[in-house]
Amino acid sequence: MIFKSFTTSKFKFVNFIELSKDAHKQIWQVRTSYEVRQFMFDKEVFPFENHLNFVERLKVDNTKLYYAIYDENNDFVGSISLHPINYSRRVADWGIYINPQYQGNGVSVEIANLFFDSIFSLDVLDKITAVVLDFNLRSIKFHERVGFKRERECDGQMFFVKERL
Ligand SMILES: CC(C)(COP(=O)(O)OP(=O)(O)OC[C@H]1O[C@@H](n2cnc3c(N)ncnc32)[C@H](O)[C@@H]1OP(=O)(O)O)[C@@H](O)C(=O)NCCC(=O)NCCS
Repeated sequence: MIFKSFTTSKFKFVNFIELSKDAHKQIWQVRTSYEVRQFMFDKEVFPFENHLNFVERLKVDNTKLYYAIYDENNDFVGSISLHPINYSRRVADWGIYINPQYQGNGVSVEIANLFFDSIFSLDVLDKITAVVLDFNLRSIKFHERVGFKRERECDGQMFFVKERL
């Protein structure tokens, strides 16, 4: 496995495939909360069973990587994913959501920067791309804050890219 779980000074990034059913219950609850899902491409609430089946498929799919992020108190702070990962082009599209309880206090920027440091240091990717719904002004600002550049806009979506330094 190239993208293993890792720990930084303040946060643990745990690969979804290593987590218990109870941990996934909490992830699923946050992912399907209105505060998060309203900004996702798939806005519907989906059953917990679907989430578990999705995690099973991750075990045999190296083009998708999902991390759950925990703080020092082992509280679930959010999730970052890379999908799809294109190994030959050395690029991946990412996704992020922060648990609503932890939004708005700078933790998202801190987590994103730790994630980029760690992922780019593996020397597998040169670029990370992002697609943000154009009404998600908070996310647009957030992406610019963490070093993404706007590439283009199309059909209500904004395309961003972040290059490895
Ligand atoms: C997007 C997200 C990761 C940002 O994390 P956050 O902790 O909420 O970010 P912040 O509160 O630091 O806000 C980021 C910036 O947007 C600004 N902002 C906050 N709410 C805003 C709003 N309603 N409209 C415009 N800007 C807003 C903040 O002032 C901040 O700007 P600054 O960097 O100049 O200080 C988080 O809100 C989230 O998980 N949202 C739900 C899921 C989601 O949208 N994911 C991204 C999908 S592409």
